[in-house]
Amino acid sequence: MASSLNPFSYTQTVTGKAFCNRQQEQRDLLRYLKASQNVLLYSHRRHGKTSLIQQVFASLKNSRPRIDTMLVNLYGTLSERDFIEAVFKGIGQIESRTDRLIKLAGSFMKSIRYSYDPVTQSHTVFPDLGAAQIKPALDGLMKMLAGYSEKRRLVVAFDEFQEIAGYSQNSFEKQLRSHIQTHTNIGYLFSGSQTHLLQHMFNDYGRAFYHQAQSYPLDTIATPDFVAWAIDLFAEQGRTMPEAVVEDVVQRCEHHPMYIQQFLYHLWDEPGFDEAVVDGVEQQIIRRRHLEFINLWEPLTQNQKKALRLIALKQGHDLFAAASLQMVGLNRASQVTRAIEKLLDREIVVKNDRYHIQDILLKKWLISGL
Ligand SMILES: Nc1ncnc2c1ncn2[C@@H]1O[C@H](COP(=O)(O)OP(=O)(O)OP(=O)(O)O)[C@@H](O)[C@H]1O
Ligand SMILES: [Mg+2]
Repeated sequence: MASSLNPFSYTQTVTGKAFCNRQQEQRDLLRYLKASQNVLLYSHRRHGKTSLIQQVFASLKNSRPRIDTMLVNLYGTLSERDFIEAVFKGIGQIESRTDRLIKLAGSFMKSIRYSYDPVTQSHTVFPDLGAAQIKPALDGLMKMLAGYSEKRRLVVAFDEFQEIAGYSQNSFEKQLRSHIQTHTNIGYLFSGSQTHLLQHMFNDYGRAFYHQAQSYPLDTIATPDFVAWAIDLFAEQGRTMPEAVVEDVVQRCEHHPMYIQQFLYHLWDEPGFDEAVVDGVEQQIIRRRHLEFINLWEPLTQNQKKALRLIALKQGHDLFAAASLQMVGLNRASQVTRAIEKLLDREIVVKNDRYHIQDILLKKWLISGL
């Protein structure tokens, strides 16, 4: 089969044809951001936040009057200094002229490092900050953004925003908010996957970002939308994908967009799509994660293992009933509670209406191994 034309992708953010639907979400976010309303976009891991942001940003850039956009990835940033570097890199998205950038940055940063990559032929400018320069650098950067937004509206996304809660300086959130509050021509989009951390940052009365953004949980994509989208991508290359197969895949993947893409990516290479083929693809996907799951499983305590099994077997229902506890050899409900707390901390388990194992493949692996 012509796998080089495979239209499905599960390792990178997706836009354009590989991006399924989310029409309502795009409309909502565009409306908020065009009005410079701040938004908090959140979901569990790999549900499509960054892809959605990129899709919305593409529309903003094409809107008239044009709105400039800047996506700052805060993943892995550990300190205020990292934050400043990340924002500084982001500014390259709105100011491509290195000479102007150096001049602007030079007005509020004492030292700047400059590098040129001959392979990509790109210039990079880094702030070079001592501890005493961090506050003035942040002030300078944020004022620079405000200055841009006076000429042209701006939307700034801080992806994985919860990272800032881990920086050493408690006052950082306050400092940042004091700028953001005054930026009336900038719409800020905060997004992240550590939902409990984000909720605290935006909903706890004492926190700097209390009620600073419209909350927007990212919902799942409906089955008919996945079906129409997948059938189209197959049809574009002259192939017929039956509706029932996509429905089956969506159900097996519990609407998780990354796993649906991965599933379809592998199905693409198959000549036919009967149930045995679909089963085979599922097993193959789970097998590839075996080592990773073993590494996650082995260091868990006995009670954590039992609690995890229990959640998998009971799909999160009736966990504390005597019969459920017995099923996995636990005696007391308090053992489950304590074990689940640890699993929640590590985000192996998440809670919404009930407890779930965040990674549906881990759940399938646990069930198939029992
Ligand atoms: N609208 C969509 N249509 C089809 N596939 C999607 C869509 N959104 C996301 N995906 C799939 O999910 C994967 C993860 O998407 P993305 O990186 O945007 O999610 P995320 O929520 O930002 O993840 P993370 O929590 O790691 O930051 C993509 O590689 C793609 O396979
Ligand atoms: Mg992301």
